[in-house]
Amino acid sequence: MKLITTAIDYTNGAPHIGHAYEKVLADVLTRYERFAGREVYFLTGVDQHGQKVQQNAEKEGVHPATYSNRVTKGFIKLWDKLDVKYDGWASTTDQRHITCVQAILQKLYDDGQLYKESHKGFYSIRQEQFLTDRDRNDEGEFGPEWGEVEEVEEENWYFKLSDHIEWLRNHVETHPDFVFPQFRRQELLNALERSDKGDLCISRPKSRLRWGIELPFDTDFVTYVWFDALTNYISFAGYQAAENADLPVFEKLWSNTTHIIGKDILVPPHGIYWPIMLHAIGFSDDDMPRLLVHGWWNIRGEKMSKSLGNVVDPDQLADTFGADGLRYYLMRDISTGGDSDFSPERIIMRFNSDLANDFGNLANRTLNMTKRYRGGVLNCGDYDDELCLDVRQVAEQTRKDYTDAMNGDLPHLALEHVWKLIVRANKFVEQTAPFTLAKEESESAKLDAVLYHLVEVIAEVSLLIAPVMPQAAANLQDQLRLTPEQRTTLLSDMAWGLLPTGHETGKPKPLFPRLQLEEETEG
Ligand code: ME8
Ligand code: MG
Repeated sequence: MKLITTAIDYTNGAPHIGHAYEKVLADVLTRYERFAGREVYFLTGVDQHGQKVQQNAEKEGVHPATYSNRVTKGFIKLWDKLDVKYDGWASTTDQRHITCVQAILQKLYDDGQLYKESHKGFYSIRQEQFLTDRDRNDEGEFGPEWGEVEEVEEENWYFKLSDHIEWLRNHVETHPDFVFPQFRRQELLNALERSDKGDLCISRPKSRLRWGIELPFDTDFVTYVWFDALTNYISFAGYQAAENADLPVFEKLWSNTTHIIGKDILVPPHGIYWPIMLHAIGFSDDDMPRLLVHGWWNIRGEKMSKSLGNVVDPDQLADTFGADGLRYYLMRDISTGGDSDFSPERIIMRFNSDLANDFGNLANRTLNMTKRYRGGVLNCGDYDDELCLDVRQVAEQTRKDYTDAMNGDLPHLALEHVWKLIVRANKFVEQTAPFTLAKEESESAKLDAVLYHLVEVIAEVSLLIAPVMPQAAANLQDQLRLTPEQRTTLLSDMAWGLLPTGHETGKPKPLFPRLQLEEETEG
C-alpha cells in the first residue's frame, strides 16, 4: 500500500489556487495509482492551531475553534467541488491527534531530547519566529516582510535537533530518492552544509499563544507549529492507535509514503525537522518518507499575496471552467517541481483550444459520424492500411509514454502525450475524410475501419484522462456506453481492441462547450 499526503492547509484564511493545485496533484496521483492497479491511501487535511488563527479569531471576537472550523468548512467544500477525494482527513484539533502529539513529546522528554532555556531576541509576529542577524536587510534592519518585530525574552522548550544533523546528512546523501526533484535534494544538502544548526524551539508560553496543544510535562506551554503540524502524517495514518480506532493499519501504510509539499516548506520543516523527528522517536532509515516538492503558482511573475490583492480564487475558476477544466489547467500548465504563472488568458486558451477544440470536437464528431453512418454500431472488419496502422502505433506509444510520465509524477507530460494521440486522431479524420467515404458504397469497409479506430481512440483517451478529469471521462464513457468492466480496465491491461465488433455507442453531447468570455472578445 502507498500513502500519499499533502501539506495540511493553514486555516488562517480562504483556500487559494496554490492550495487547489497541491490537492488536485495529490488526487490525480492517487487516482493514477488505482488505475495502475496499486493500493493507495490519500491523506489530507487542515492545520488549525497557531498564532494567526488566534489573532484572526480575536479580531472577529470569536473563539479560535469557531474561526478555524468555519475556515475548514470552506476547504472541505472546495475539495468536494473539485472532486478531490481523500481517504483520510487530518485536522489538528482532533483529540486523536492531540493524544499522539503529546505521547511523542512525552517520549522525547523522557529520553532527554528536550530541554528548557531562556532566549532573548527579536520576534516577527507575522512570520511567528525569532529572527537572527542574518534576517536583517542591507540597512541592518528587519524589512517589512517580517511585519511587526518585537524584542522579547522568554523561556521555551527546545528539541536537540543538532544531535541528529549528521545522521540526516548521511541519509540524504545515501538516498537519492528521498527528495524529488533532484535539484531540491541538492538545496537540502546545501542547507545541511551551512554552519548554524541550532536546536529547534518547540514551544510558546500560553501567555502568548493559547491556541495549541499543551506540553504534557509543562502545562504553561503549548507546542508550537512543527511538532503539531508534521505529526498529522502519522497520527492519522494509525500510528500507535488503539486497535478499534477507525484508522488505517500504520504498518501497512507507512513503508511507502510520499509527502506532497510546496517548495517553501522543504527547508527546514519537511527536509530537516520531520525526518529528524521520526528518527528521534525510533523510525528506521527504511521508514523515512519520500518528499515530492512542487513549485508555486505566481501571478504575472509575482508572488500571490493578500496585500498585493492578487490572490486567485479557485472556487470562482471552477464555476467558470468546471472542476475538470480547472483540474486540467492546473495539471497541464506547470511541470512538477517548477513554478508557473497563473493567467486568465492561459486557462481560457487551454480550455478552448485543448479541451473544446482538440478533444471535445474529436469526441463529438466521432460519435456523430458513428451514429449517422452506422447507427452507432462498430465493426472492426478486415480493412487495414498504413494510416490505420499508424494510429494504432501512436495509441500504443501513448500508453507507454503516459505510464512513464505518471510513474515519474509528471502529469503535465502524461497529458502532453495523450494530446499527441488526440491530435493524431484529428489528423486521421482529415486524411481519411469519412464524410466522403460515406458517399461511396465501395468504401464501406474502409469507413467501418476508420470509425472503429476513432471510437477506440476516444475510448482509450477516456481511460487515460480519468485521473485528471474524472467527470469528463465518465461523461464520455456514458456517451460511448462503456460497460463497467471496460470503464475499470487497468492501465496494464489496456490494449488496442477495448471495444468489440457490435458495440453500440450512445448519443453524442458536447463535452466542453466553447467559452465566450470577456477576456477573449475584448481582443
Ligand atoms: O504551509 N503555489 O500551510 P499553507 C503552489 N500548514 N503551492 C502553494 C502556493 C502557491 N502559490 N502557496 C502555498 C502550510 N502553497 C502549513 C503546512 S504541513 C505539515 C504544514 C502550498 O496553507 C504550500 O507550499 O501555508 C504548502 O504545501 C500548502 O500550499 C499549504 O500551505
Ligand atoms: Mg504558507
